[in-house]
Amino acid sequence: MGRIPAGPEVPRTPIGMLQMASALKSDMFAFIGKRLQTYGDVYALQVPGGLHYIVANPDFAYEMLVGQPQNFYKDTGYKDPKVGLTLFLGNGLLTSDGDFWKKQRKQVAPALHARRIEAYAETMVESTDLMLTRWHAGSVLNIDREMMRLTLGIVAKTLFNADISAQAGRIGHILDTLQAAMMPLDVLPAWVPTPLRFRRDRAIAGLDEIVYGMINAWREQGADRGDLLSMLMLAQDDDGNHMTDKQIRDEAVTLLLAGHETTANTLNWTFLLLAQNPDVEARLHDELDSVLGGALPTLADLKRLPYTEMVIKESMRLLPPAYSFGRQAIVDTEIAGYSIPKGTEVTVFSYFIHRDPRFWSEPERFMPERFSPENEKHIPRYAYLPFGGGPRICIGNSFASMEARLLLATIAQRYQLRLKPGFQVEFDPLITLRPKHGLMMTLAERTPERHAV
Ligand code: HEM
Repeated sequence: MGRIPAGPEVPRTPIGMLQMASALKSDMFAFIGKRLQTYGDVYALQVPGGLHYIVANPDFAYEMLVGQPQNFYKDTGYKDPKVGLTLFLGNGLLTSDGDFWKKQRKQVAPALHARRIEAYAETMVESTDLMLTRWHAGSVLNIDREMMRLTLGIVAKTLFNADISAQAGRIGHILDTLQAAMMPLDVLPAWVPTPLRFRRDRAIAGLDEIVYGMINAWREQGADRGDLLSMLMLAQDDDGNHMTDKQIRDEAVTLLLAGHETTANTLNWTFLLLAQNPDVEARLHDELDSVLGGALPTLADLKRLPYTEMVIKESMRLLPPAYSFGRQAIVDTEIAGYSIPKGTEVTVFSYFIHRDPRFWSEPERFMPERFSPENEKHIPRYAYLPFGGGPRICIGNSFASMEARLLLATIAQRYQLRLKPGFQVEFDPLITLRPKHGLMMTLAERTPERHAV
């Protein structure tokens, strides 16, 4: 029989709870990091209704995700009727469970298969090149906004064949509103109207309008365009049933959100880290200049850009966009000597695993060499898990990895980005790890050096 891990007292009074929420909000990583130091890499909170384990242990993560995934569902945080992701993602891939999830995953997977996505490379580079026509040396830009628009446009074009550039601003605003509404400690009953809930409901209605618009437009044409939307519209289960419009809407919204926000943040953090580490940046420029010689990157070039890939991987180690993810035990079980009673919530923090000195030397340093083919082999199992693992591993990981490398290569070849003097970057760990007040950076034009290739 395993044991329940030790952990701190959870405040029981409303004032104590508000104090804890405010400490978490002001610096979540410092707050949880201190507790991990005190109690070890798995600690328990006695919360109303059961236990909540906080985990920063790779073996535990491996066993939960790969060893016994059948014993865990997505945590109830996803399904909270007031602040859960299901509020606007519905029952899509990210939030569904059991046989239903399995069926949906099988239907969506072919569109994101490594072979299939190769066809998207050109759109990715073209969209980036188009964005760069609006950039000018010397100007100051909110890189967060630029990256969000770019990656949203790419996922819409590649997966849904939709040009949403005209609506990108509106969708961006809707998603900002929804992220902000998902997180607060909302203690009021679900029926109480508040300004935040009003904004949230309006944002969901706006999102529905856009996505049902895409579904209706497809139906008017009714042709198989070979994109994901066509696949969803035409898919039939074993009994010959098609997905309902609501189900297609849920999958589409899930992919639009999951498919752009994380990649945009990967690029945000990569540009910040490059600006803070000019030696790494110089090596990256060197690789880009000698391999591409000023030309736009293609899919075939990626093999010849190993350092670019190492930079992206190291950026996702230090600042993982999906910095934590949660499960709930659906049966009594045991992992790593810990008893996990049915109903226990488990949150794995990849953020802390990625910075643990037991697995990473000088963990705070930005050192892409950790991911050289030689060094990568020695990274302990599940000490690096930016895309999660097991059957629910990110379905878009190949898409994201290709996209991040192509976008970085296209942009870094032409511009050197520096933080705007005096601008303070603040981390905002909401659903993803994003910059709280954007990322204001100055652009300096580069002329790629022509190397003999
Ligand atoms: C750098 C970019 C990305 C990162 C860091 C990332 C990270 C993750 C992680 C950690 C999970 C697992 C969550 C869990 O186990 O609870 C996940 C799941 C998922 N991701 Fe990604 N993701 C990225 C890009 C994408 C893209 C481009 C797409 C789609 C085009 C996508 C679609 C999804 C979906 C649908 C799931 C749910 C899969 C399932 O449960 O079956 N992601 N992602």
